[in-house]
Amino acid sequence: MANLKTLIQHLNKDLERELTQIVRYLHHSFIVMGPSRGHLVGFFRKQVQESMDHAIRLGEKVTALGGHPTVSVSQIFEPGEQTLEEMLKEDLESEEEALREYKKHHKETAQDIALRVLLEQIIFEEQTHIEEFKKYLEK
Ligand SMILES: [Fe+2]
Ligand SMILES: [Fe+2]
Repeated sequence: MANLKTLIQHLNKDLERELTQIVRYLHHSFIVMGPSRGHLVGFFRKQVQESMDHAIRLGEKVTALGGHPTVSVSQIFEPGEQTLEEMLKEDLESEEEALREYKKHHKETAQDIALRVLLEQIIFEEQTHIEEFKKYLEK
């Protein structure tokens, strides 16, 4: 098990990624155009809500462990214009990265059952997001 300081750093990195996803999904919900826009705005905003839910659980856990939650947001790819397919591919990549990192951090939490379960819940949801994005990307 990683020491507490490292664990808090890793949870803060996860928090930063969720905060970044909130901004990315909001941005995509603003710029998506075309006849399917109504549905897609709802789809992206639902991702915003779920990323916010993850961010809240992580931020509360960071403070419960005696850490200080980050306000950092990572640089977001911003080419100006994007097709829906480009947005979905960017989102899928970011979800896959999140899943990889959560699985790594899950390995560090063996002794802390509650934290392990929290990460398992998030892992389950990230896996579901990945499956959903892959379906949206299907031709
Ligand atoms: Fe998430
Ligand atoms: Fe996700």
